[in-house]
Amino acid sequence: MKVLIVGSGGREHAIAMAVAKSPKVDKIYCAPGNAGIAAQAECVPITAMEFDKLADFAQEKAIDLTIIGMDDPLVGGIVDVFEARGLRVFGPRKNAAILEGSKAFSKELMKKYNIPTAGYETFDDADAALAYLETAKLPIVLKADGLALGKGVLICNTLEEAKDGVKEIMQDKKFGTAGNRMVVEEFMTGREVSVLSYVDGKTIKIMSSAQDHKRAKDGDQGLNTGGMGTFSPSPFYTKEVDEFCKKYIYQATVDAMAAEGREFKGIIFFGLMLTEDGPKVLEYNARFGDPEAQVVLPRMKNDIVEVMEACIDGKLDTIDLQFEDNAAVCVVLASDGYPVSYKKGYPITGFEKFEGRDDRFCYHAGTAFNDKGEIVTNGGRVLGITATGADLKEARANAYAATEWISFENKYMRHDIGKAIDEA
Ligand code: AMP
Ligand code: GLY
Repeated sequence: MKVLIVGSGGREHAIAMAVAKSPKVDKIYCAPGNAGIAAQAECVPITAMEFDKLADFAQEKAIDLTIIGMDDPLVGGIVDVFEARGLRVFGPRKNAAILEGSKAFSKELMKKYNIPTAGYETFDDADAALAYLETAKLPIVLKADGLALGKGVLICNTLEEAKDGVKEIMQDKKFGTAGNRMVVEEFMTGREVSVLSYVDGKTIKIMSSAQDHKRAKDGDQGLNTGGMGTFSPSPFYTKEVDEFCKKYIYQATVDAMAAEGREFKGIIFFGLMLTEDGPKVLEYNARFGDPEAQVVLPRMKNDIVEVMEACIDGKLDTIDLQFEDNAAVCVVLASDGYPVSYKKGYPITGFEKFEGRDDRFCYHAGTAFNDKGEIVTNGGRVLGITATGADLKEARANAYAATEWISFENKYMRHDIGKAIDEA
C-alpha cells in the first residue's frame, strides 16, 4: 500500500513511525512533513490547507490511504474533498469535525444528549457577554468558539480579567474569526486526562489514557503551549473512571453525532476533567493529540493501518485494540522563549543514539534541513523525546536520560513531566 500523511509535527512523525511498522505498507509520503519524518516518508512540499493539490497528488501517485493528522484541514473539509474524488481517507468529514471546530456546537451537543460537562452560556455579542459576567461566579472560563491553536481559552480570576478577556476575544479579535462567538463556562477543578479513541461512525474503541502538560514552565507555571510533555497511561484514569466514561461519555458522544446526521469516523480525543462530581468533558478534538500521540502510539500493539481501514469501512467492531502493559513518557525539547518568541536555525546533534531502537524515540516537531543538509531547529517545539519503561517511573527516568543525548543551542525543556505520578 501507499500511504500519504498530512501534517508536519511530532504527532505526524509518531503516526509515520506507526505506519512504517505495518507490513501492508511499502511507501509513505508526508505533506509537508519535516526533517525527521523524512527518515520514514518521502516529504512533499504541499501544505495541509492545499486540499486540491493534495488530492491531485494522491490521485497521481495512486495513494491507497491518506491520514489527516491536523485539526485545521479536518475542520476545513479536506475529507469531503478527498471523498468526492473517490480517494480513501482517514478522518471525520467537515460536518463531524465541527465537534472540535466549534466549542458552541460541542457544548450544545453535550447539553442536548446529557453528556457531563461544565455549565455554560454562548454569546455572539460582546455586550451581552459583558452583562452576563457581572453576575457570574468566579473564576470563570472564556473560550473562543473556533480553532485558535489551543490558545483560545482564558481562565479569569477577577471580573476585570474576564471583561478584558471578552474584549480580547470578541472585539480585538486576538484569535481572529474564532472569536466571533464565545462560550463562557463554569470553572472546574480536578485532574485532567486525555483519552483518544478510534471511531467508525457507530463503534468506538478507547486507547490507553494519557496526560499532557500544557504550561511552558515547571510547576504548571508560565503560558499555555501546544504541550510540553506527556505520559501514558494516567494512573488517575482508574477502572471506576473508565466505567463511568464508557457509560455516560464515549458511546454517548458517537451516538449523539450519528443522531445529528454527523456520523463521526476517525479519532475522537476526549479532554476530561476528573471532578469531585465525576468525570466531565473539557473539550473534544477530532484528531490525535500532540504530544499525546507520541506516548500512546508507541504502546499500541495493533497495525495502525488495519485499525484505520476498519474505521473507514465501519468494521471497527472486528478489531481487538491492544496496548503494551508498559508506560511511556515524552519530554518536549523546545526553543528557549517558546511560546512567545524564539530563534530558529540552530544545528541539532545526537540523533544517531535513537536509531534502530524500539524503546527510545526522537519525534521531530519543528525541524528542517539547512542548505548544508544539517538538521536544524525550525519551530518552538523542536523534538519530542519518548521512552518506554516497565512503569511510569522507569519510563520517566529513561526519557529524561535520553533528552541528554540531544544537543542544540537554546534547548529548553520542563523538568517535571510526569511528576504527578509520584502522588498516585
Ligand atoms: P480546552 O482547549 O477547552 O481543553 O482548554 C484548555 C485548557 O484550559 C484545559 O486543558 C484546561 O486546563 C483549561 N480549562 C478549559 N475549560 C476549563 C474549565 N471549564 N474549568 C477549568 N479549566 C478549564
Ligand atoms: N495536546 C493537546 C492537543 O493536542 O490538543
